[in-house]
Formats: sequence, C-alpha cells, structure tokens
Amino acid sequence: MFGNAGSDVTQVQTSTRVPAEAFRFRTPTIETPGIFVVIRWVYRLVRLVVLAPFRFPVSVGLIVSSAVIGHTFGALVLAIMWSVADLGLLVWWRRWPSSFRRLVALRVLAAWRWLANYQRHWQPVLVVAGLAESYQERQYLPRIRSVRCTDWADRVRVKLVPGTKPEDFQVRVDQLAHGFAAPSCRVHVNGARDVTLEFPRRDTLAEPLDALPVESPVDLRAVPMGLCEGGDPWTLRLHGTHVLTVGVTGAGKGSVIWSAIRALTPAVTDGSVQVWAIDPKRMELSYGRPLFAHYADSGESAVDLLEQAVSRMQERATRYAGKQRTHVPSAADPFIVVVVDEVAFLTAYHPDRDVRRRAENAIATLTSQGRSVGVSVLAALQDPRKEVMNLRNLFPDKIALRLDEASQVDMVLGEGARERGANAHLIDPHLPGVGFVKLEGSPVPVRVRAAFVSDDDITAMAHEGRGD
Ligand SMILES: Nc1ncnc2c1ncn2[C@@H]1O[C@H](COP(=O)(O)OP(=O)(O)O)[C@@H](O)[C@H]1O
Ligand SMILES: [Mg+2]
Repeated sequence: MFGNAGSDVTQVQTSTRVPAEAFRFRTPTIETPGIFVVIRWVYRLVRLVVLAPFRFPVSVGLIVSSAVIGHTFGALVLAIMWSVADLGLLVWWRRWPSSFRRLVALRVLAAWRWLANYQRHWQPVLVVAGLAESYQERQYLPRIRSVRCTDWADRVRVKLVPGTKPEDFQVRVDQLAHGFAAPSCRVHVNGARDVTLEFPRRDTLAEPLDALPVESPVDLRAVPMGLCEGGDPWTLRLHGTHVLTVGVTGAGKGSVIWSAIRALTPAVTDGSVQVWAIDPKRMELSYGRPLFAHYADSGESAVDLLEQAVSRMQERATRYAGKQRTHVPSAADPFIVVVVDEVAFLTAYHPDRDVRRRAENAIATLTSQGRSVGVSVLAALQDPRKEVMNLRNLFPDKIALRLDEASQVDMVLGEGARERGANAHLIDPHLPGVGFVKLEGSPVPVRVRAAFVSDDDITAMAHEGRGD
C-alpha cells in the first residue's frame, strides 16, 4: 500500500535503509487528555467568579445590589433608586469635577480602553511584535495586570512571561504604539517581570508654554525649564554639569537657552551667578546683553571669552586645591554659565583654523574640568555628528530637540534612546521647543517642552537683572 509501483528490489532497499530524519531529535508531543482540558476551563470559570468581586468590586457590587433590590422591592423601586443615583452622579460631576473625573470618569474610561483596545488587540499585537513566546505548540503571552487612565495617557501594567525581559518591550515601543493606535509608547520598569506601558491619548505639549514665573531663590540643581509630557515641571540641573542642546534650525534651541537664563535672573541680579554669552549668529542673545557679564559675537572675541573662562576656572582650581572640594556660589565666587549658541560655528565652520582649534581646546578644558569649580557650559548645536562636534560626549546632559535623522537620536541621548521611544526625528516641526531628555536615574527618555521666552520677556528681564 505504501510502496511505490516499482519493483520489489526497490521496496526491500527502502525498508532496510534508515531515513536520515530518524536521527534528528524531535520534541515528543504529549496530547493533553480531554478531561484535563475540561478541568482547566472549570477552574478558570470558578476563579473568575471568585475573583470578580475583588477585581471589579464596584461593578459586581452594583449588579448584586440591583438584583437584590429588584427582587425584594420590585422594578419600580429599583428604577427610582437608579435615577436618584444618576442624579447624585450629575451633582458630583458639576460640583466637584476633578474628584468625579479621578474617581469615576477615568475609571470608566480605563475599563472601556481595557476592553475595546488592549484586551481586544493584545494577542495579535504582541505576537506580531515578537513579545509572545511559543513552546511545544503552546503560546505564552504576557498578561495585562491592570489598565489605568490618567488625564493624558493609558497606563497598562503587564506581567511578563518568564524568559522575557523588560528590554524586550523597550526595543519594540514603535510596534506597540502602532498596534494600539497610540502616538507613542514608553516602558517603565517596575520589576524584573513587571512593566508599565504608557500610551498617550493626546499631546499634552501641543500648546506653547508662556515663559515661566521666575522663582527666587534660584535652585541651580533644578532650574525650571518647561513641562514634561506627564504634566510635571521640567527642571534642569545646571550647577555641576554641562548641557548640550541639539536640534535643527527652528527646533527651539533658543527657548531652552532663554528659559535657563530667565530662571537665573534673580541670581544674576544678586551677583551669585554670571552668564557669559557667545552669540555667533548675533541673533539669539543680543537682546539680553545687559544680563551678561561678558558677551562675544565674533570668532576672535568668542575665543578670548572662552580662554578667559578657562583662566578663571584654573585660578579657582588652584585656590580650591586641598581646601575645598565643591563650589558654593557667592558674589565673590559666582557660578559661571558659559552660554554658546551655535557652537559648531566656532569649532567647525569658522574659516580661521586657529580660532577653531583654540575654541575646541577651551571648550574641552571647560567641560572636562569646570564642574567642581562652578563653571558650566550651556551650548546649542544643530548637527550632532562627530565630524562637526567631537566634544559632545564631554557634556553629561543633553537635550534632543527636533533632529534630521533617526540615527542622530542615539548620538545625542546615548545608545538605545531611540529604541526606548525618543523619536526626536519625528517631532512635528510645528512644535518648536519640544524634545526628549533623560532625567536622572532613569534610562527612559522623557518628552518635554521648553517654555517660550518672548523678546518682550527678554527685554523685561534685561531691565531687571544686570550681569555686569
Ligand atoms: N518653546 C517654544 N514654544 C513655542 N514656540 C517656540 C519655542 N521655541 C521656539 N519657538 C518658535 O520657533 C522659532 C524658532 O525657534 P529658535 O529658538 O530660534 O530655533 P533654533 O534656535 O533652534 O533655530 C522661534 O522664532 C519661535 O517663534
Ligand atoms: Mg537659534
């Protein structure tokens, strides 16, 4: 029956030869007996019924109490009670909208989003994204633990399958965002097998932000700059670090520089902070000249300014040696912020080779030795490639505004930043001042927007604080 239609000899030969596949290892497939399948389904059903009051206490409570009231007092009483309850909700919503939103509206929304989006698309999206594991024809899928809604995002807490790790999610944020129809996705790691996926529902940074109120005294470790996507203030450390802001023309580098200078104004006035400004384009900083202790707008004068900062730094280092380990800003020893707009103009594009070399040397010296003696560099740059700015790694803190290419994201924010959701190359050109930063202690980039400091704001600041 199985032999071919040829001669007997052929049949004998095939029966004596052992086929090569016989030596290959095959995982034995063990069929689960039907009774176990039934037991498992019954167990799941019982577990759902037992756990439902704990997982959905409000819904279960409402259903059970409605059933009891309806059964005991009749449908009319039930309808009246529901109407009164609805009226109560209406009053709550009108009278205390924020607590109503937090305790009722966002919870209802979360249940809806769980059902209509995440639970519904979970399996296909995770399988296609490569986040489900298969073993012996069984599929292991990460499990949704909870879905919560904040004012602007859905937060889906996920229990991972053993053998997968949070980084597997972090490198697939694009697929996840696309799969759940969200503009982006970020992964917060809670534990080895516990992550929260954050899917924004709307862009909280779509509206420009007016210049922030100036706070006094100035906290040089947390200078207010703007807003984080989640609604928290975005603050920037200036003392003890150097900051490089990178973005194409029109990305809003000016608003980062000016937000920082604005926040420093009270300290500039009392003399504990000095801003030394270099403005090669003569466009960005000239408005605020009275605020600056030193100002330069040509290649030669800029290099002089930088070298003067280096001498000041070295003089301090000599004075502090063996006596003082950190710098405390004071009128006698102010914190010096060297602001350099379009830094590549000095280090790469200036026609005079000597100016380029001296500028690069001075910036390298300031960024490598200035931190502990109270000298910081705040620089802006358009093109982060090495050929243009090989000093970029001397800046411990970097801000990625809108960039030209995907490959530039990791150049600015470090390896893996783009995979973790810092899509700086996809920032809408109509949103200047929007960018990504890494905050201390977290590898997950945060989307931020700098406040916009208008020319009128700068003029008012220049009247208030005089840096010379
Ligand atoms: N944070 C911001 N919010 C709103 N608009 C901004 C912001 N930053 C910049 N802009 C607008 O974008 C334009 C270009 O910004 P600018 O800072 O000059 O860019 P860059 O210095 O990166 O070339 C500005 O003239 C301003 O109108
Ligand atoms: Mg500019």
